[in-house]
This record gives sequence, structure tokens and C-alpha cells, in this order.
Amino acid sequence: MGKIILTGDRPTGKLHLGHYVGSVKMRKVLQEDKTYSEIYILLADLQALTDNATNPDKIRKNIIECALDYLACGLDPNRLSICVQSSLPALYELYMYYLNLVSTKRLERNPTVKSEMQMRGFDQEGLPVGFYTYPISQAADITAFCATTVPVGEDQDPMIEQAREIVEKFNNIYGNVLTLPETMHPSSEISKRLPGLDGKSKMSKSLGNAIYLSDESEVLKEKIMKRMFTDPTHLQINDPGKIDGNMVFTYLDIFATDKDFKELLPEYNNLNEMKEHYKRGGLGDVKCKNFLYNILNNFLTPIREKRHYWESHISDIYDIIQDGTKKALIKTNNTLDKVKEAMKIDYFNDKSKITKEWEEWLASNRMD
Ligand code: TRP
Repeated sequence: MGKIILTGDRPTGKLHLGHYVGSVKMRKVLQEDKTYSEIYILLADLQALTDNATNPDKIRKNIIECALDYLACGLDPNRLSICVQSSLPALYELYMYYLNLVSTKRLERNPTVKSEMQMRGFDQEGLPVGFYTYPISQAADITAFCATTVPVGEDQDPMIEQAREIVEKFNNIYGNVLTLPETMHPSSEISKRLPGLDGKSKMSKSLGNAIYLSDESEVLKEKIMKRMFTDPTHLQINDPGKIDGNMVFTYLDIFATDKDFKELLPEYNNLNEMKEHYKRGGLGDVKCKNFLYNILNNFLTPIREKRHYWESHISDIYDIIQDGTKKALIKTNNTLDKVKEAMKIDYFNDKSKITKEWEEWLASNRMD
């Protein structure tokens, strides 16, 4: 049997370059790999609601936005099933059973939840219970699909660890039913985390430092030219410049190829030559930024065009996520059945089983 992939996103906004580098790019590689017999992408609307309870419209709208971005990037719905979390009741039923397998102490240790709490001000205001327990819900997602492989960013490692603990505990108590998942990270070091335009932290919608895959070229230009952090001590063209922490070079490291130099900036053979010149002095920010703009614009143009196509075929998108969800429903219900059987709480599957058991129990009690 082939391996099974589950990965997912919270539909809280359009996808940005950070998503591309950190996950979409890898999904494109994985969908070509026959080692994986099933691939599911979960639009985790329930997880998104754990910190957006008052704003369901935002989540609803972004289910379509995310699906548009996937298709625009070339994810292939014939190869992977795009599905919606809230339409898969097995996920929340499993979550209910798993809640009993995790202690509050264990949840408090989760470093991702800790930092997310701070970011959202929950450490002051009090924490929605659903948010606090979302790692358990994510373990339900992962195990419901029998995922062997979970491609995610490094910030998600604690979630996979939590899922593995639940699997081990469950299998220990009830028998070997659940599949032990493994994480998978993008291979190149730099691809793990794309910093935002400001260079301060990772690219994120809430920090307002993102370049969206759907940004039109003028918006892209404005963001790079006016908002991208470079080297604040590089005031004159002839001043020596710093590469470290300079976002233009961080992004060039990821996106520039030697071919780009040949076509767009032939005075250098490669990025190293360009960096040396910048460090020596004599290379201005505007020129570097223009080069980056051209590269990113060439990269984003076909994505943008495909997105425009799908935007005028929204009803097809609806069908695609409905089909994906139907497949996911069968898969996850099947796991739920096995779980309930293992826990012996499948009371109404077999009348004779439960009635006979009771009669036997009664009989043995009478003997005492
Ligand atoms: N927590 C993930 C994120 O924020 C989204 C997610 C929900 C997910 N369920 C999942 C990822 C299951 C992988 C597997 O990116």
C-alpha cells in the first residue's frame, strides 16, 4: 500500500509567497511522486474558527480564496483531494475521544500554541477552549486520514509530536488501529521560513508584511520598492552594504537563478558576484530591487493568469472541493468505524453482540 499524505491550511486569508515557498512548492513535487497513493489537502475551517469565532464570514470567503490559490499554482485536483474540515464529522468525533488521552499539562507545553497565544493576546484575555485544544483536533485530522506523511512547516512540529503521542496511547489502550504519522519538511534550509517584507519575522497576513500570490504587478512593485527592508546603513550607492538581514538578498537567494542574470542583469554571472559588488559598495538598492521585482513578477504572472481563469469558473471550484470532500468523507468515516469498534462503543452495529455480552455478564454475576 502506498503512503498517504495529509496537509492543510487555515483558510484565514489568501496565500502568500511564504506559503508558496514553505508548502505549495513541495505539494507540487509530491503530487508527481507515485510513492503517495492518496493526497489530501484539508481546508481547516474549524481550526480557523478557534480564533475567529466572531468572524465566520471571513473563513467562509477564504475557503474559496485558498482553493483558487491552489489551482492557480498548479495543484492538480485529479491527483489530490481538496476537502473541507467542517464537512467531515468523523474528525470532530475522533477529537472528542482523543480529548481524554491528553492532559492539560501536556497542552500547556506546546510551544507553537504558546507563541500563537501571545500573538493573539489570549495570554491576557483568556483562551478559547477550542483554541487551546486545537492540537488534539489536528491529531484527529491526521489520524482520520491514516496519514503516514504530513508535510508542514517547522512551526507545526509540535502538532505532529502531539499526534504521535495520541496514536501511541490510543493503540496501547485499544489495539493497533491508528497510523503513526511522520512530518516532512521542505528540503532546502532557506525554504522553511520566508521572512516578511519587514525582515522582522516570518511572512504573515496578520503582520501585514506579505506578498500575496494574487498581488497585481503594480502592488508587487510598490511592496518591493517602498516597503522591503534592506540595509539601513547603506545610504549612498558607494557605501558598502550588508547582505545579512537584507530582504532583497534573502529573497534573491530563494528566487534568482543564473538564467535570470543572463536575461535580466547580464553584468553579473550569478548572485555571488552581485553580492560582492553590493558589499564593496557601488551597487544601489533601486537596481537590486528592480531585479528582484522582475524575477518575482515573472514568477507570479502565470499564477495570476491562472487565478483569473479560475475566478471566472467559481462553480467548477465548488465542484472540485465538493468532490474532494466526498472522498475524504469515505476515508475518515472508515477510520472512525475502526476506532469505535476498537473502543467497543459501536453499540448499535450488532444487536446480538451487546445483548449477549450483557446476558453472559449477568449469568457470571449470578454465579458469584
Ligand atoms: N495547523 C495547520 C496550519 O496552521 C493547518 C492544519 C490543520 C493542518 N489540520 C492539519 C496541517 C492537518 C496538516 C495536517 O498550517
